[in-house]
Amino acid sequence: MKDQLIVALDTDDGEDIDWMCTTLAETVRWFKIGFQAFSTLGTDGFPWLSARGHKVFLDLKFHDIPNTVARDVDTMTKHGANMINMHASGGLEMMQAARNSADDAAYKENIPRPILLGVTLLTSIDETGFQQNFGSERELTKQVVYLAQLAQEAGLDGVVASPLEIEPIRKTCGDNFLIVTPGIRPKWAESNDQRRITTPAEAINKGADYIVVGRPIIEADDPLAAAEMILDEMRGA
Ligand code: C5P
Repeated sequence: MKDQLIVALDTDDGEDIDWMCTTLAETVRWFKIGFQAFSTLGTDGFPWLSARGHKVFLDLKFHDIPNTVARDVDTMTKHGANMINMHASGGLEMMQAARNSADDAAYKENIPRPILLGVTLLTSIDETGFQQNFGSERELTKQVVYLAQLAQEAGLDGVVASPLEIEPIRKTCGDNFLIVTPGIRPKWAESNDQRRITTPAEAINKGADYIVVGRPIIEADDPLAAAEMILDEMRGA
């Protein structure tokens, strides 16, 4: 289960990051670096975490023309990110360029290729928000599955999606396609701005490969106890 929990280091405070990574060193394998942590750690954060036995999910959600995203992925692969994501809505060509670029960079550096993920629809968006923001008549779940299929066709390894969409994605994309789910809230935690949520146990039961948890751990009075409770809940699923 330790390999399936990803803790989001959503802060730009280097001391907090240092403290959190030391506190969770034995309990957590994967850390997620978004723009805040990246602004402090830069790419030096990847070897720093790797030397401590951790893996890095670089959550910068690339969304740009294919050439730019290919270069972004090339750079981050060379620096040693273990998992990289991009918006699937950037399109087939963009995701294919990212995959080719990661293959080439990993080959040249003689390192494993990072896991590449497409972000489907943010877990903070619900059905009404989807229709309002995207002007779409399509059901949200259909859009998520459509984007997951596009990511698979482009050669990505999986998607970031809500735990509520695991079943339809699995049905369409099969068992070997990774599903990484934020929008995780144990019963004892606040939902904050997340809308399409489940508990850690529900996400594991539905078949999530990885769950991403931020505030319920990093803003807890005792982050270690919170992480252990979540892992226990995942084990009991
Ligand atoms: O604090 P919380 O557990 O809500 O953090 C979830 C993390 O997952 C945040 O870093 C957020 O940016 C990220 N994320 C998300 N929904 C997505 C993709 C990433 O919540 N679709």
